Amino acid sequence: MVMEAAKLGIPSLGIEINPFLYLLSLLKVKFCSSKAKFEWGNFWGKDLGQADIITIYLPITSKRLETKLKKELKRGSLVLTYQTGFPNWKPTNITKSSIFTYQL
Ligand SMILES: C[S@@+](CC[C@H](N)C(=O)[O-])C[C@H]1O[C@@H](n2cnc3c(N)ncnc32)[C@H](O)[C@@H]1O
Repeated sequence: MVMEAAKLGIPSLGIEINPFLYLLSLLKVKFCSSKAKFEWGNFWGKDLGQADIITIYLPITSKRLETKLKKELKRGSLVLTYQTGFPNWKPTNITKSSIFTYQL
């Protein structure tokens, strides 16, 4: 999603904790001449407040993550998750391919 967004000209940053996958992302960026950026790290320690759109692909989306996003993101920001919805939030849309959209 990060690289697809970059293709549309949207400044995009991916955060990946696994060093192997992080390096793979850098290779993909180079190979595709993408403008996407990737950081190696733990998103729990990052302030996500600069983002207008957050895309999440995690096996579990928790109440703790809802709290972090609600605290840091601007009102009107979009949060998209793939395959797993949030436990308490009501999505504004769910696609057939299981992309859940939430507007804060
Ligand atoms: C379902 S996989 C998605 C893999 C890949 N990013 C993609 O979009 O196809 C979830 C990824 O989230 C990463 N991850 C899990 N917890 C994280 C955290 N706290 N900070 C950054 N990345 C994390 C895992 O290392 C794993 O690569």
